[in-house]
Amino acid sequence: MQLKDNFGRPINYLRLAVTDRCNLRCFYCMPEEGIHFLPKEQLLTYEEMIRLADIFSSMGVDKIRITGGEPFVRKNLIDFLDTLAKNKQINKLSITTNGILTRPYLSHLKSIGIENINLSLDSLNHDNFKKITRRDEFTNVIGTFHQMISDGFKVKINAVIMDGINDHEIIDLAKLAIEYPVSVRFIEEMPFNGSAVKQTSIRWNHIRILEKLKSAFPDIAKLPTSANSTSENYIFDQAKGNVGIIAAFSRTFCGSCDRIRVTSTGEMRTCLYGHNVLDIKKMMRNEVSDESIKASIIEVVQKRAKDGFEAEKKRGINNPIGESMSVIGG
Ligand code: 5AD
Ligand code: SF4
Repeated sequence: MQLKDNFGRPINYLRLAVTDRCNLRCFYCMPEEGIHFLPKEQLLTYEEMIRLADIFSSMGVDKIRITGGEPFVRKNLIDFLDTLAKNKQINKLSITTNGILTRPYLSHLKSIGIENINLSLDSLNHDNFKKITRRDEFTNVIGTFHQMISDGFKVKINAVIMDGINDHEIIDLAKLAIEYPVSVRFIEEMPFNGSAVKQTSIRWNHIRILEKLKSAFPDIAKLPTSANSTSENYIFDQAKGNVGIIAAFSRTFCGSCDRIRVTSTGEMRTCLYGHNVLDIKKMMRNEVSDESIKASIIEVVQKRAKDGFEAEKKRGINNPIGESMSVIGG
């Protein structure tokens, strides 16, 4: 079967957060202190995640991205990935990481068919990286980046653009695509930072980011939009790779959204901006059958919001966005 939502959009992409913990403290994602990481019992076990992946893959989900928190902070991640990679219905398994603990596992990831890695890298400046992430890991992360390139991974760099923080680095970051065959994606900053302060506009939206890129690369040309992609991609003269802009705050791409999320606590979200719609962990722990879980998944997918704005509105005024991206998964 192919899972479809109430707007006829096929749902074939699951983003699965394996932990809420992280070894960085990026300020756009979480506060520096006072974060309450969840007790282990509240997280899905690997066995539960494998069962969940089997359920979703039997419903037509064939792409899974492992996110967090930082996935590699969770113990024995590799054993879990080994098992997950054996699921023949999953055509594309990918991972998003901050690159701190990742390097020793790269060749293993390759060997089990993981070729796509998204690396979070918001600055190419040692001090600025430290200011943004509140940890001194720049040298390590850049080392991982170079290893990923020389190992031949399909690398995407995720850079969240923040006013007055790293906006002056947009061009330097874009130049990575001249030197390396990478996709450098500029992401609009979203309000998922662990504090419920309502954000109504952002300075560095997709339009302004593109203007900035055009000013430095006048020959920049748009690539055809690939189906279900959240990024608009561009090439410019001499670039081995490309640049992308993700309108994560402006939400211009919802019309073709093919994704669902499962948080580290095993709750399903049919939109990043919405609320949790199904507690799959609870169902599993109450010994609910696969068939009943599938029926519930179909039911919530049939109530999906049209776009991220409608989903946000449906949360209600008593439930403003205040959660950290580390719980939902990036
Ligand atoms: N706004 C935009 N992107 C974010 N990410 C995390 N928090 C935010 C936010 N508030 C992105 C980071 C990371 C991915 C997992 O999620 O770019 O690469
Ligand atoms: Fe999908 Fe929601 Fe994101 Fe839009 S905002 S792309 S509907 S998850």
